Amino acid sequence: MNAFAYRNGSLHAEDVDLATLADDVGTPFYCYSTSALTHNFARFRDALPKGALIAYAVKANGNLAVLNTLAQAGAGADVVSGGELKKALAAGIPASRIVFSGVGKTRAEMKAALEAGIHQFNVEGEPELEALNDVAASLNTHAPVAIRVNPDVSPDTHAKISTGGAETKFGVPWKRARDVYALAAKLPAIEIAGIATHIGSQISDLAAFETAFTRLIELAKDLRGQGHAVSRIDFGGGLGVDYSGDAPPDVQAYAHIVSRLTQGLEAQLIFEPGRAIAADAGVLVSRVLYVKQGESRNFLVLDAGMNDLLRPALYDAHHEIVAVADAGSARAVYDIVGPVCETADLFARNCDMPLLKSGDLVAILKTGAYGAAMASAYNMRAIAPEVLVKGAQWAIVRPRINEDELVGYDRLSPWQS
Ligand code: LLP
Repeated sequence: MNAFAYRNGSLHAEDVDLATLADDVGTPFYCYSTSALTHNFARFRDALPKGALIAYAVKANGNLAVLNTLAQAGAGADVVSGGELKKALAAGIPASRIVFSGVGKTRAEMKAALEAGIHQFNVEGEPELEALNDVAASLNTHAPVAIRVNPDVSPDTHAKISTGGAETKFGVPWKRARDVYALAAKLPAIEIAGIATHIGSQISDLAAFETAFTRLIELAKDLRGQGHAVSRIDFGGGLGVDYSGDAPPDVQAYAHIVSRLTQGLEAQLIFEPGRAIAADAGVLVSRVLYVKQGESRNFLVLDAGMNDLLRPALYDAHHEIVAVADAGSARAVYDIVGPVCETADLFARNCDMPLLKSGDLVAILKTGAYGAAMASAYNMRAIAPEVLVKGAQWAIVRPRINEDELVGYDRLSPWQS
């Protein structure tokens, strides 16, 4: 499905004209489609074995209204901080559907999660296991735990988002998994519930998942043989998105692998997709500030920058950029850049686009995941607002955090005032 399509020559989000929205909200802004979110969630729900817990990775897009949309569709949440836990709960995701991942959980975060009664902690090492045991014991409760193991699979993705190799900070090494389960079994306030993995993000090679999941399931069976109650298997997230127009990674094929590998295995299956649910449900709309001639290049200088969308600068990520007004047949080739004072503030090179002028609008596509979530106020730039569309309705679901508000967070020290 494509929730962002041209109507009467102007790009719409569902039934809302992005040009009208830009006039009302101001640019740059993120715009999300309710139907795309629910459609993407339903694709997972319908393809995966019945009863699976789809714990949406909040880090991809943690906007309250986005989370609420997914909660209503039946999503759980994968959270990695006390802040994400608060957001997920506030959005109406039941604690019983929340999984807590992350390599550096604090004791305060553990306490909050235990008090909320979350489904499970995905524990990434022995020291964390011991800390969690202490915290749970002090609350007179038990912490349901899956140990995150590292299947030693290095999928073909950007090095900065690959997590499944043997020596990363994530999870426990494959070879040491049995020892960690033995420790967990000895800790009185730890309740072994399952096993977990997550091999990385933006993975389109389904064979990498298949290898990792095969190993994970073998290990789960082995641990069961040793008497551990491994009744949940958490496969993590990571299914990629088609950013460049290649064949999209296929949810059906992914689900098929899972179904085949888990056949006859009595276990609750857990998944943590983020990007595959949120990415193509969002666009970043920006206005052209200047069209500037270089020696041999034309630069489109946008009012959105790397502070609004970091992925191109950080991962050399490609996002298609289109003109909001599908006007005329004249075309030009542009390097599309932001206003931030860094050479890295470059969204795309050599883009063949309709001829644009100052004041025209562009949309940067598939930015619903890891877009607003990774935004900052670098260069003292306002944080872009977020808009949710549903049919012909739209609402600002996060107002712009403006420069006055940002200035207001700073204080002079006592000796300066
Ligand atoms: N579960 C865990 C434990 C994770 O660490 C992640 C992502 C996910 C699930 C969700 O993965 P997804 O389905 O979204 O691929 N900022 C980067 C992506 C970082 C992903 C970090 N972990 C980007 O913009 O590409």
